[in-house]
Amino acid sequence: MGKDVIIACDFASKEATLEFLDKFTGVKPFVKIGMELFYAEGPAIVKEIKARGHKIFLDLKLHDIPNTVKKSMAVLSRLDVDMTNLHAGGTISMMEGALEGLTRPDGTRPLLIAVTQLTSTDQERMENDLLIKEPIDKVVMHYANNAKIAGLDGVVCSPLEAGKVHDTCGKEFLTVTPGVRFADGDIGDQKRVMTPAEAKKIGSDYIVVGRPITAAADPVAAYKRCCEEFIG
Ligand code: C5P
Repeated sequence: MGKDVIIACDFASKEATLEFLDKFTGVKPFVKIGMELFYAEGPAIVKEIKARGHKIFLDLKLHDIPNTVKKSMAVLSRLDVDMTNLHAGGTISMMEGALEGLTRPDGTRPLLIAVTQLTSTDQERMENDLLIKEPIDKVVMHYANNAKIAGLDGVVCSPLEAGKVHDTCGKEFLTVTPGVRFADGDIGDQKRVMTPAEAKKIGSDYIVVGRPITAAADPVAAYKRCCEEFIG
């Protein structure tokens, strides 16, 4: 079960992505492909990175009516990705539909992870824009529990929330945590961060790391340092 470092490949083009991945010889990191790269390059970039031997987290955060999400997830599943995600705000029946669509004829499927509340949404915006008046921590845990009820594998959350998610939804329920920085590194635009070692201690299952690796002078060394701190 889990415990891996996922590199967020937040590049705008296939060329930039492959140039980055070419630096890794002998090791094939788990990579996250997000909307920017997917919309720029389409399914071909997923197939190409998969063919190079990487595991892929396809971060497209689906949110639509259950039938549309179900059919779209079936398409993503055929791309042979290892992990994908959706918004828990789409309701339990949308998440159940997603899981059904994602399941291949042989019964296998990628891991399915829910986004609860985006970290860009704070209490004030949630109350004023979404008319959700409960405390945001409670909302995050409620959405995580909905994902569990729907049969999903886990949630994307801050490493600071990972312990509480495990307390609420069980140790087996996966926590995929961005917002990771080295103790001596730049925080950038992330607000609430943890080191890989702290994320390990608090029980994150997967850490998602972008700029501390992609913008490092030596990305391979930064990746290895992450793995040493997080996996040991
Ligand atoms: O460069 P950095 O390490 O901040 O990248 C983190 C990655 O995780 C980015 O792809 C970002 O979009 C994603 N992410 C995040 N916070 C969330 C959800 C996703 O930083 N709550």
